[in-house]
Amino acid sequence: MSFRDLCAHRRSIRKYTNAPVEQEKIDYMLQCALMSPSAKRTCPWEFIVVRDEAKLRPLAGCRTYGSQMFNTATAAIIIALDPTLCDNTWMADGAIAAEHILLAAAEQGVGACWCHVHEREGAPELVRKTCGIPEKYEILCAIALGYPDEERSTYDLSRLKYEKIHKEMF
Ligand SMILES: Cc1cc2nc3c(=O)[nH]c(=O)nc-3n(C[C@H](O)[C@H](O)[C@H](O)COP(=O)(O)O)c2cc1C
Repeated sequence: MSFRDLCAHRRSIRKYTNAPVEQEKIDYMLQCALMSPSAKRTCPWEFIVVRDEAKLRPLAGCRTYGSQMFNTATAAIIIALDPTLCDNTWMADGAIAAEHILLAAAEQGVGACWCHVHEREGAPELVRKTCGIPEKYEILCAIALGYPDEERSTYDLSRLKYEKIHKEMF
């Protein structure tokens, strides 16, 4: 699959079957995350892998809307970052690592969805408590993982928002 085909194929999947995601596939995603660029190579991220249902299901309650994927997720990777290691770039560093994970999941046929945690009411506290994340870390997102139990169409190259592209001047 070309990189462009992979980008077209990656969609947010929010409903999963109960088939567990193989550890090797999660390890592959984590390797991809560990190769993501970060400002001054500070690598401010920490990745918390969650497979225990007793931790996964409570994550569904971290948001009023937008966290329902944890009702069926069979795994999650939470991305926490140490803001003291970088000069205000932790969110960008974390977002790039998250996208590496999303693409690595899609490439392997695993469904994934970003659940935003940072500055969403009550979410950081719930995730921090559920997974024992120390206070000094900001929690950007929790990525839900599982085998898709819903169909999403791939992106159609002829219907992309090409008007977002500006040449030389805005
Ligand atoms: C920064 C960011 C935050 C997001 N937060 C959530 C979220 O909290 N819950 C959710 O269901 N999807 C969330 N998403 C997924 C987006 O809704 C999704 O990427 C968008 O609708 C485009 O759909 P696609 O991923 O299938 O291309 C988030 C995505 C990003 C990049």
